[in-house]
Amino acid sequence: MPLVDSHGRTIRDLRISVTDRCNYRCVYCRTGEHGAQFAELTMPDYLRMARVFVSLGITKIRLTGGEPLLRNDLLELIRELAKLRTAEGKAPELALTTNGHLLAEMAAPLRQAGLTRVTISMDAVEPERFARITRVKGSYQAVLEGVRAARQAGLGPVKINCVLLRGFNEDQVEAFGRFARDEQVVVRFIEFMPLEEGRVWSPDVVVPLAEVLRRMQGFAPFHELAHEASSTARRYAFDDGRGEFGVIAPVSLPFCGACSRIRLTSDGKIRTCLFSLGEYDLHAAVREGRSDLELARIIEHAVAHKEARHHIGEPGFVQPGRTMVHIGG
Ligand code: 5AD
Ligand code: SF4
Repeated sequence: MPLVDSHGRTIRDLRISVTDRCNYRCVYCRTGEHGAQFAELTMPDYLRMARVFVSLGITKIRLTGGEPLLRNDLLELIRELAKLRTAEGKAPELALTTNGHLLAEMAAPLRQAGLTRVTISMDAVEPERFARITRVKGSYQAVLEGVRAARQAGLGPVKINCVLLRGFNEDQVEAFGRFARDEQVVVRFIEFMPLEEGRVWSPDVVVPLAEVLRRMQGFAPFHELAHEASSTARRYAFDDGRGEFGVIAPVSLPFCGACSRIRLTSDGKIRTCLFSLGEYDLHAAVREGRSDLELARIIEHAVAHKEARHHIGEPGFVQPGRTMVHIGG
């Protein structure tokens, strides 16, 4: 029996944040000052919870953070996750979201461990601007090497996530069009969401879908492709058949109605939405020695209370207390 919420949505995608540490401090995510925080569990604990999720119908798991590659036992977790079987007897799809800084060396071992796909965050294709956004020198070259290593390792199609912020990088759209074609990656522009530590979000900072398309038209002609109902991204292909890009528009074109996602934070709490104001402490049940059946009940209870949608930009919107670096993207 798959997990179905009270709005009729089937929940198939689980995102697990395996650490809230990060080696970058991206301007739209972190403040410059905060020291390292530490709220992570052992890999066997994530695995135990993931196993129960898969037994309930989860077919795709994405590992996120913080920066997941900071965990040196990540490969072990991936190897174990790859052994799980869905109700159809298949291994779950295993994806990873990373900032790419450590990916050059890790791409091949990740693939060998059983990872199927990787998404890399890049918010500019100019070294200096990249360093200004991530607040780390030399980050562009490291990530570029990571992107190429991922492709070579067969972790494709490699997706690039680019969060657009007015005044920082909205002029990079065309350059990313060229990058997508040259590097054979799928670039996905993401509208900035109010999930950052610094509370700098305002509607004016969001670069909306329509503007991305307008800017890309100045680069090369393209057309829209069909997208899966539960997919967050609108997809576009360049007319000459070389290269593809996408736009994830949670603000101007919310996709909550088709949401198939549920999240586990690095400290083992279930979040049914990025913007949830409450959580379910699944790891507490693990610590208390509860059975798989009892864990399953907690998950089902959380799913039954999944929010219908987010309320970004509406009067009365409340920004969640936990930010992206804790929740996991
Ligand atoms: N709004 C939109 N996207 C964000 N990300 C991080 N913070 C935000 C935000 N406030 C992106 C990162 C990463 C993914 C996990 O989410 O760039 O690619
Ligand atoms: Fe780290 Fe990702 Fe946040 Fe950047 S967006 S600081 S890479 S967690």
